[in-house]
Amino acid sequence: MTQTGDGHRSAGWFGMTGKNGFTHRSWMRNQGFSPEVFDGRPVIGIANSWSELTPCNAHLRRVAESVKRGVWQAGGFPLEFPTMSLGETLMRPSTMLFRNLMSMDVEESLRANPVDGTVLLSGCDKTTPAQIMGAASVDLPSLMVTGGPMLNGKFKGGDIGSGTHVWKFSEDVRAGRMSQEDFLAAEQCMSRSNGHCMTMGTASTMACVIEALGLQLPGSAAIPAVDARRYVTAQQAGQRIVEMVREDLRMSRVVTRRSFENAVRVNAAIGGSTNAIVHLLAIAGRLEIPLDLDDFDTLAKDVPLLVDLMPSGDYLMEDFYYAGGLPAVIRELGELLHTDAATVTGRTVGENVANAPRYGSDVIRTVAEPLREEAGTAVLRGNLCPDGAIIKRSAVSEHLARHRGRALVFDTIEEFNERIDDEDLDVDAGTVLVVRYAGPKGYPGMPEIGNLALPPKLLREGVEDMVRISDARMSGTSYGTVVLHTAPEAAVGGPLALLRTGDVVSLDIPARTLDMAVGDDELARRRQEWAPPPHATERGYTRLYTEHVLQADRGADFDFLVGGSGAEVPRVAF
Ligand code: FES
Repeated sequence: MTQTGDGHRSAGWFGMTGKNGFTHRSWMRNQGFSPEVFDGRPVIGIANSWSELTPCNAHLRRVAESVKRGVWQAGGFPLEFPTMSLGETLMRPSTMLFRNLMSMDVEESLRANPVDGTVLLSGCDKTTPAQIMGAASVDLPSLMVTGGPMLNGKFKGGDIGSGTHVWKFSEDVRAGRMSQEDFLAAEQCMSRSNGHCMTMGTASTMACVIEALGLQLPGSAAIPAVDARRYVTAQQAGQRIVEMVREDLRMSRVVTRRSFENAVRVNAAIGGSTNAIVHLLAIAGRLEIPLDLDDFDTLAKDVPLLVDLMPSGDYLMEDFYYAGGLPAVIRELGELLHTDAATVTGRTVGENVANAPRYGSDVIRTVAEPLREEAGTAVLRGNLCPDGAIIKRSAVSEHLARHRGRALVFDTIEEFNERIDDEDLDVDAGTVLVVRYAGPKGYPGMPEIGNLALPPKLLREGVEDMVRISDARMSGTSYGTVVLHTAPEAAVGGPLALLRTGDVVSLDIPARTLDMAVGDDELARRRQEWAPPPHATERGYTRLYTEHVLQADRGADFDFLVGGSGAEVPRVAF
């Protein structure tokens, strides 16, 4: 194999002589490229998760055009290619089931093709971590451009937020506080433009967290999808990725343990989604950077909640952008972060935000006057969750932070949904609602069902929150005293599988404990009687998933995907 050009990886294809070089170049010429594109310039793969089945990513073809503009401008050769896409609102049984599959698609597409650097285009919840996970395992120069949030939802003169108001309105209808007509009217007012959820749900969280990791241009996470500046940042990303290839600024040279510590702290300060935990653990695993569940508690303990966005607060992403966006938060956090950490700009985190403005005092608060002193995630341990469970502190009702209550246990979400509206259900405000067998292997795919609906008879009495426990996840747009990611999950015989209706459960968030008041002898007896549930399927991808998925405390990645395969030029078989 002969390579020409200046030694970029793509020269292993386009720089070849003989029949291989002929083949690699000739077929590309059918797209009308002039010969100069093969002169050894950096080839930039634009990994696009555009799909009409992923409404949050439906505008990414246009974003890709701006990235291409920047790549051409900087002397690179842009080539856009599709990746799998995961639309949160349509895919069943759970997009999380397919996050690892999409990451494999991204990894292998990058490895198999003449790509020197990549711009990753994502938006909806799982598309962002999946692309970063795949790219991390290849370790090329990589830069992400997220599609940006939708404009604020508007209904009856007020703002309504993606997801958050769906849960609220749905409870209002069940409690008789909202008419069906209004509910349908609100449906038309929530999603007003291109873009992903505009609450601080998982998509906005992951966009901010990836910016905090240093993998997205500063300030770009919050730009609304339809704002012209979204396209400016995309063009600048195209320019910058070409320079990154020339500087050999691979992902592993940008992201370190210190970057993850920044991301964990930023996630706390923005009131970010609990889903960031499984995604950051999985990304760290791909980069072989040590990060564990307890880091999300200990690293964020002294970080206050600065950002007043739904579901923890009142505002939405559009307001966040106008108030200064993530750079204002990072600048305000100051020494709580590693300001010397590297970023894709070639400058440090601190240098990137040195002059970042903060406008107004409502949306982004100061460390001196935060929205809440305690933010971040509490990691719980106890005889219900020896490998940990999590709870989002900013979403907890104060009166439930220490709670003892009788468990009401359901083995499936379907059973829960069938029975929860029953007026004769034996439940009161102190009951602890439990749904299990909804973890990574159990569902399978660890769905977002953890924010269990409250019984209508209690809603009518004015009850607004109850302790809820599951081995599932919850939407980043949700709220409440909701214990999630219980590990080990019930389906692999975790203690949650041994809990019975009527057992007393104790939650103590300040002490970080979650226990059931059941003696060891009784638990041993119940374990003897317990049998694992049958596998969901015996074939295909779901079989691969259930056989290889790791538990939530390890990021729910596949055991065989931890680490990376690198970007070596594969052998050629023509
Ligand atoms: Fe796509 Fe919320 S549904 S980001």
